[in-house]
Amino acid sequence: MRKPIIAGNWKMNKNIKEALEFVKEVGTRADRDDVEAVICAPFLQLKDLKEATKGTKIKVGAQNMHYETSGAFTGEVSAEMLQEIAMDYVIIGHSERREYFGETNETVNKKVLKALQVGINPILCCGETLEQREAGVTKDHVKTQILAGLKDVTKEDLAKVVVAYEPIWAIGTGKTATAEQANDVISYIREVIASVYGDLANEVRIQYGGSVKPANVAEIMGQSDIDGALVGGASLKADDYVALVNFK
Ligand code: 13P
Repeated sequence: MRKPIIAGNWKMNKNIKEALEFVKEVGTRADRDDVEAVICAPFLQLKDLKEATKGTKIKVGAQNMHYETSGAFTGEVSAEMLQEIAMDYVIIGHSERREYFGETNETVNKKVLKALQVGINPILCCGETLEQREAGVTKDHVKTQILAGLKDVTKEDLAKVVVAYEPIWAIGTGKTATAEQANDVISYIREVIASVYGDLANEVRIQYGGSVKPANVAEIMGQSDIDGALVGGASLKADDYVALVNFK
C-alpha cells in the first residue's frame, strides 16, 4: 500500500513570521495516520518550521539544493546543510527551476542521487508544456525526464523517491488536468519506472500537481495511480491546507 502524500510547495512566499503563524493555525488539524503531510518552504523558514511542527505530524522539506557538499557555489545550499536541520524532503527539478534557473535532466539526476545519499527524500518533478501536449509528445517527454532523473538510483533507494507529475500548463493557471488525464500520464510514468525496476515501481508514490485545491483534491486522489498532490497556491492558506490533507 502506498501512503498518500500531500505536499505544499510554498514557492517564494511567506516570511518566517507568516510561516510560524500558518503552523499555529494548522495546529494538529493536518495530523492523519493514513496520509503524509509535508510543507516545502523557502530555505530561511525551514529551521523554524521544523521546530514549530514538532508535536504535529507535518513533515518539512526544501524546494531545491545543490549536489555538491561544499565549495565555491555562491548562493547555493547543500544537501548536507539541509540534513543538519533534519529536512524530510526536498523538491528536485520543479519546472520553474528548469525554466528560470537552467536546471537540466543531468543536474536534476545529480541532486536526486545526492539527496538520497544524505537521507533526504527527493520529490522528483516532471511535466510537459502546453506545446508539447498539443504536439502529442507528453509521454515521450515525461519518459525522458523520469529515466534521466532516476539514473543510477538503486533498487533499495527507489521507494524513497516521490515523483511529481506537474503539467506546466496547469501550474498556477486554474486549469487542472482532468483527473483522468493526470491518471493516464501517471500510470504511464509507473510503466516507465517498471521498465527499469520491475515490480518495485508499485512502491513509488506519484503525485499530481497543477491547480489542486480543496474542491478537486478528492477526485484527483480517487484515481487509481495517483498517490498524492504537490500543491502551490492552495497550500498557502491554513484552512485550505488542512482541507487538502483531510481529503476523503
Ligand atoms: P499551483 O497549485 O499553484 O498550480 O502550483 C503547482 C505547483 O507548481 C506545485 O509545485
